[in-house]
Amino acid sequence: MPAQFEDVVVETDLLILGGGMAACGAAVEAAYWAKKHGLKVTLVDKAAVDRSGAVAMGLSAINQYIGLKDGQNTVKDYVEYVRNDLMGITREDLVANIARHVDSTVHLFEKWGLPIWKDEQGNYVHEGRWQLMINGESYKVVVAEAAKNALLQDGVGQIFERVFIVGPLMDGDRCAGAVGFSVRENKFYVFKAKATIVAMGGAVHVFRPRSVGEGLGRAWYPPWNAGSSAYFTIQAGAEMTCQEVRFIPVRFKDAYGPVGAWFLLFKSRATNALGGDYMVERRDELEKWAPYGRVKPIPANLRNWLGMLDVMEGKGPIYMRTEEAIAKIAEQYKDDPKLYQKKMRELENEAWEDFLDMTISQALLWAATNVEPEKKPSEIAPAEPYFIGSHSGASGAWVSGPEDLQTDESRPLYFWGYTNMSTVKGLFCAGDASGASSHKFSSGSCTEGRIAAKSAIKFIVENNTMPNVDEAQVKAWKERIFRPLELFEKHKNETTDPDINPNYIRPRMFMFRLQKIMDEYAGGVSAQFSTNEALLKRALELLGYLKEDSEKLAAENLHELMRCWENIHRMWQAEAHVRSVLFREETRWPGYYFRADKPKMDEENWRVFVNCRWDPKTGEWQMFKRPVIRIFD
Ligand code: FAD
Ligand code: ADX
Repeated sequence: MPAQFEDVVVETDLLILGGGMAACGAAVEAAYWAKKHGLKVTLVDKAAVDRSGAVAMGLSAINQYIGLKDGQNTVKDYVEYVRNDLMGITREDLVANIARHVDSTVHLFEKWGLPIWKDEQGNYVHEGRWQLMINGESYKVVVAEAAKNALLQDGVGQIFERVFIVGPLMDGDRCAGAVGFSVRENKFYVFKAKATIVAMGGAVHVFRPRSVGEGLGRAWYPPWNAGSSAYFTIQAGAEMTCQEVRFIPVRFKDAYGPVGAWFLLFKSRATNALGGDYMVERRDELEKWAPYGRVKPIPANLRNWLGMLDVMEGKGPIYMRTEEAIAKIAEQYKDDPKLYQKKMRELENEAWEDFLDMTISQALLWAATNVEPEKKPSEIAPAEPYFIGSHSGASGAWVSGPEDLQTDESRPLYFWGYTNMSTVKGLFCAGDASGASSHKFSSGSCTEGRIAAKSAIKFIVENNTMPNVDEAQVKAWKERIFRPLELFEKHKNETTDPDINPNYIRPRMFMFRLQKIMDEYAGGVSAQFSTNEALLKRALELLGYLKEDSEKLAAENLHELMRCWENIHRMWQAEAHVRSVLFREETRWPGYYFRADKPKMDEENWRVFVNCRWDPKTGEWQMFKRPVIRIFD
């Protein structure tokens, strides 16, 4: 079978993996610096850059904007916000580095054509303190266009779309590029590069989703980000961080519509079936999680937790009180019936637009279930867990911070020469791929891509040699990558039902197995996000069998081959997660997961990062702590 796949070898200076917010930011910045140094940049996306990644459907807000120029906030304010929201565990140098540059990225978005809401005075309309409202249906198209223009003008770069990246090429301890395959043509791609930026997003469908049957596949996080960043960096031998810090978004139930505009812009409450407001009634619970339980805004996981307690006590469903929020805003205009009508229409439009901008399916569900948000509340619920280090989770690779933001204490631990380089030489990470720097969102991820690209070009200029790629390594990858096609061809006629075969497993069934393990043992929806040491050990045992079976994954065509590799990527993300939850002997993020056998937060022993590394030479995992160092007092 591999013989039928043409080898396409691409040599480049900088390789950008992914085509999302971080990758597009990297492309724009890299093109600028590459031109100055006569370097070549190559971007590879498994999909089409115009609509790939988490921003594919569009977004309704830019969630990170500091407002430095207007003196609205300081970088330190943002660092404090992120530190508190992550219950004390964050890399302040990384967060601050993004925060000090993010406004300029937002201004670029506007220059490129993204409509940002303005008030009568011409100021940005804020959703909350850090968030700006946008007409964002075409957000990704706008940013993709800028990336394409930057790369394709003057021949500085090239873009490969519909090429699925599988894993890294290595030259000893230096990353030498990547391998992958076209999902449309019989082509095997070998990318050789002096530096590589990983920006392939986070991971979805590692845990069993709430959606079943006809809704299967519907999730909050986009179905096409399947843990490729984590797999790539783990396989390269990079140190990983915060692999236990999954994200559980509370969303409008079943279509996963966003809640931010409701809570922040419309100032809505969420109440239980009895009309009780868990944020008020359960305030005392927050003391157990002090000092973080005392901060404003209350950390996202604690907000989740208070609602979950209601559900566990049988007080569900939980409702977003859209009708109450709209009535409250409109009330101010009661004395002028005409104005009142106008305001009501405006609010109704804004409510629908919020979904139409970024989660169209929620608008469809509202329409299908006769929801008029001004008349009727809507159910919300915590979603299944996702890995999204750029949002309110934190999982990703452990990367170097910038030199100028280090203290004497942090420099030896947080800085190793090139900003955003992982612990592997020449391998850089941004967006969901880089860890311990949450709350980057779309704007911060694009900014981090820019930061990583500038730094990677510096690395290339100072290490301007093409790494050696051993042909045996390439051959071994090729054989492994296409094995599922061979297995299917060889055994497909041995049973009457091609889904059931003693010699192979198809990726869909494999995914169900993975999701069942994670759901039941690692604190998924059906376990009410709770787990313990014994369950986690059992999860590892079962994941071990699954790993054995992954050698028997089979694919009927190129699309299914991609599904095979997506599931292998997910499986490694799952293992890193389970090992990290097991290693951290406390509960720090109730509302994301609860260690029932260690139900308390332990500031003395566990106000640390949990890091891990898989050793490519021995195949062994190492788990260890790294200190959390305060940079901003
Ligand atoms: P992405 O933008 O997701 O890009 C990942 C890229 O990697 C994609 O191009 C994908 O095709 C590619 N890829 C994946 N695997 C492979 C592979 N194996 N080979 C090649 N390419 C691969 N932020 C806001 O600011 N405001 C919001 O309102 C907002 N709402 C959100 C709503 C949802 C539903 C989600 C999921 C996120 C939201 N965010 C929001 C966050 C924002 O979208 C992310 O922070 C941001 O997109 C992360 O950037 P990234 O480049 O790391 O990942
Ligand atoms: S989004 O990714 O789909 O845009 P969401 O709508 O939940 O996320 O939130 C958007 C922004 O508002 C994020 O920055 C989130 O942290 C913040 N946010 C959401 N709900 C609240 C809340 N109740 N209090 C404070 N911040 C919130």
